[in-house]
Amino acid sequence: MKRSFFIILLAALLFPGCNCKSQECAPSALDVIMTRTSIRNFTGEPVAKEQLETILKAGMAAPTAMNGQPWRFVVVTDKDKIASVFGAGPRSGMFTTAGAVIVVCGQTTAMRKPFGQPDGPETEQPNMFWYEDCSAAAENILLAAHALGLGAVWTAGYPAQERIAPIAAALGIPEKVVPLCIIPVGVPAENPAPKDKWKPENIHWEQW
Ligand SMILES: Cc1cc2nc3c(=O)[nH]c(=O)nc-3n(C[C@H](O)[C@H](O)[C@H](O)COP(=O)(O)O)c2cc1C
Repeated sequence: MKRSFFIILLAALLFPGCNCKSQECAPSALDVIMTRTSIRNFTGEPVAKEQLETILKAGMAAPTAMNGQPWRFVVVTDKDKIASVFGAGPRSGMFTTAGAVIVVCGQTTAMRKPFGQPDGPETEQPNMFWYEDCSAAAENILLAAHALGLGAVWTAGYPAQERIAPIAAALGIPEKVVPLCIIPVGVPAENPAPKDKWKPENIHWEQW
């Protein structure tokens, strides 16, 4: 009994267990969804380009009406540029301390043809689903950032013209591309508990 205890102790010391970076001990998708929370304070450390690409890949993995993929992203990592574009206003600290700011945009006229061929020619036809598609991409971005141990928060762009016009102008975003939301991403400097939003009364089983 004593011997096996020491063997286990020795094994624990030699192999101190998972650091949650390997695939086997990565949190499940449900864990990531249930523990995500908005992060508005960051350490100021940069976010590696590789991590940003993983996050954007998650964004582009979102469902999208007729496989239209109207999302476009502007990623700003330059500290001075972040400060000049996003640094005004009372809550600018969440941008200026972030490692990157992702502007999730929608190409409002890019419904692609023919159906289901995302590499087909873009048309001028309005894509009435851009808003939904880009929202799904934004949520995937928040979840991917959290899964990587980073923090992020959705901040509103569209439809608030006073918010999106200066950003679109500063970043050279074309006229038919609309900034839906602005997501600062960074190393969290806070650890708020996820809000419990479970309200069974909001569900109507079978019939309202
Ligand atoms: C459409 C939308 C707009 C939001 N706009 C802002 C915003 O402008 N500033 C901000 O700090 N948080 C913003 N949030 C984040 C919400 O405040 C946050 O998601 C909500 O309080 C729930 O908290 P949680 O994300 O931690 O679960 C927005 C979220 C959504 C979905």
